[in-house]
Amino acid sequence: MSADPLFQPYKLKHLELKNRLMLSSHEPAYAEDGMPKERYRAYHAERARGGVALTMTAGSASVSRDSPPAFNNILAWKDEVVGWMKALTDECHDHGCAVMIQLTHLGRRTRWDRGDWLPSVSAGPDREVAHRAFPKVAEDWDIARLIRDYADAAERMQAAGLDGIELEAYGHLMDQFWTPLVNRMEPPWGGDLGNRMRFALEVLGAIRARVGPDFIVGIRYSADECEAGGVSAEEGREITRRLHDSGLVDFLNVIRGRIDTDAALTDVIPVQGMRSAPHLDFAGQVRAATGLPTFHAAKIQDVATARHAVASGLLDMVGMTRAHIADPHIVAKIRRGEEDRIRPCVGANYCLDRIYMGGSALCLHNPSTGRELELPHAVARSDAPRRVVVIGAGPGGLEAARVASLRGHEVIVHEAAPGAGGQVRLTAQTARRAEMMSLIDWRLAECDRGGVQFHYNSYAEAATVLAHDPDVVIVATGGMAAEEGLRAGNELCVTAWDILSGDAQPGSSVLIWDDAGDFAALQAAEKIAATGASVEIVTRDRNIASEVMSMSLTPSLRELQRRDVRFTPTWRLDAVRRDGNALIATLGSDFGDMSCERRVTQVVTNLGTRPLDDLYFELKPGSANLGEVDYEALVALAPQTVVRNPEGRYKLFRIGDAVSSRNTHAAILDALRLVRVL
Ligand SMILES: Cc1cc2nc3c(=O)[nH]c(=O)nc-3n(C[C@H](O)[C@H](O)[C@H](O)COP(=O)(O)O)c2cc1C
Ligand code: SF4
Repeated sequence: MSADPLFQPYKLKHLELKNRLMLSSHEPAYAEDGMPKERYRAYHAERARGGVALTMTAGSASVSRDSPPAFNNILAWKDEVVGWMKALTDECHDHGCAVMIQLTHLGRRTRWDRGDWLPSVSAGPDREVAHRAFPKVAEDWDIARLIRDYADAAERMQAAGLDGIELEAYGHLMDQFWTPLVNRMEPPWGGDLGNRMRFALEVLGAIRARVGPDFIVGIRYSADECEAGGVSAEEGREITRRLHDSGLVDFLNVIRGRIDTDAALTDVIPVQGMRSAPHLDFAGQVRAATGLPTFHAAKIQDVATARHAVASGLLDMVGMTRAHIADPHIVAKIRRGEEDRIRPCVGANYCLDRIYMGGSALCLHNPSTGRELELPHAVARSDAPRRVVVIGAGPGGLEAARVASLRGHEVIVHEAAPGAGGQVRLTAQTARRAEMMSLIDWRLAECDRGGVQFHYNSYAEAATVLAHDPDVVIVATGGMAAEEGLRAGNELCVTAWDILSGDAQPGSSVLIWDDAGDFAALQAAEKIAATGASVEIVTRDRNIASEVMSMSLTPSLRELQRRDVRFTPTWRLDAVRRDGNALIATLGSDFGDMSCERRVTQVVTNLGTRPLDDLYFELKPGSANLGEVDYEALVALAPQTVVRNPEGRYKLFRIGDAVSSRNTHAAILDALRLVRVL
């Protein structure tokens, strides 16, 4: 048996879990028609194959019709779910991975204009800030039907052959009964803790009566809401004791905090730049107090911390959820002695933020996640090795180099800067976003293993490229911050990149014109405001920072609000002119002919990027495909076979921002799907 604490098996009732790593419940929003079909199954099967001991499927699978899917949740109130869950479970079991599912009623944490347009229901009439629904207060007949719905859903999961279930309490209906912040009901459902817990305990009792004593039933709940008037740490201890004494639960999955606002949710599930494993010791205290099997997940990104959690007796099962979204094969890599090859989760939270925007979970730097069926994680070697020259060592260029080297090609990279990283290096200038460099460093290490040759400080021209006599050239030169965009006064402005790189010093009163809505404007604002300058961010969009999603925005907003940075949406910067030592910025509106002025010392623009494509157009006439990409083949993962110039000596492709201003995921996806069939 391995001496690694992570590889000690764990006995949960009758169930033997083969190691201590699990996926905590997370809704990737892959359901189709509310069912976990092939995409969903392939996602979990990949992680099961990668060696994780337990996968807590779904997130918030809905037990009732009036808990409509807030983020494409599984509809556990439908009988047809049994077949789909059985197929998923069987496949994971084949890999020795136990399967459970998280069941819930979202209560007010949803919207009434989804699903069947039924009113949302809760223990009080106030809206949840994050999802905005004003619920009806549950009546007696609601409560009876909801308890029955939970038991029905649990029975469906037992019928599907799952190893157990977890009830989602925190922030959802159960917790809405528990917390005095939401519950406005009269006894017997509101009032003292006994009454507020009555609903959860009756649900647990009904489930137990339905599934029997052996089926595993756990609960994920907040044992301290960290908010005045909410469930305090002391009340949390009492809730824990009552759960324990009820004898109805087999494990606790401990949460600390609340999730009713973006900011509160971000403290429960910290993003990059926030503390690692902030609630681990707290979860350990719950375990010590109850002796019940204890699970927990919250930014335990690295194997060392997971090992510590088990070795120190803080947890029985360690959730490494986003870590497995980034790399499904963590356990397999540890077992092979390749821990240093684990693709690191960089905490970008692209995965989770996307589901709240109506999308599905994708990993910022692993495009195969969620695309297991069409873009598998493994890259096969080519039987026709070629010489591939890549220009640019940003995320897209490095991904192209990494995958080409895995294919067995000879790979040469030229990078104009002294180091790799491209725009990611610029982003990582803000200390809070420094984790982003891990996606570069991981690729560099993988490229090193694959024998990729790097030429830094090498501003490649066509001759530089042609001197290698390449078979394939990939232009990944990225983009440069756009500078033109105003009716007048472009030359009086600096860009957000100038501020971040240090090429321009912050002024004392600054207007930032954000027409891209991405991180650069926020980061520039933060850097400028830190000098004590006054800062106003103007955007013509209806929302601020439109491209930065909810939880990712939280740390920036905390910093900017603290420094009194002002946001002015729905206004447009038209022109800038000089007035003595000051600048006059003229603002206009898309809504009418209104205009106004601001007097400042500096105007900073954030207008997206323009492709750095000179080299591409220089190389285009000599290429066989004249730069053409067969999109059908690209999407179908078929080789590129276009020949438009039979005299051409090489195939030419450009990827990422060298084509058009997009994001890191797009650049890496461009590279992966092109090169994995090269
Ligand atoms: C895409 C995504 C969806 C999630 N959905 C749920 C959910 O429905 N229910 C839940 O309890 N937790 C959900 N979570 C939270 C995770 O279970 C976990 O607590 C969180 O990701 C922190 O752990 P980690 O740092 O290991 O990722 C979700 C997380 C992600 C990334
Ligand atoms: S998107 Fe970011 S947070 Fe999510 S798994 Fe990938 S690296 Fe981690």
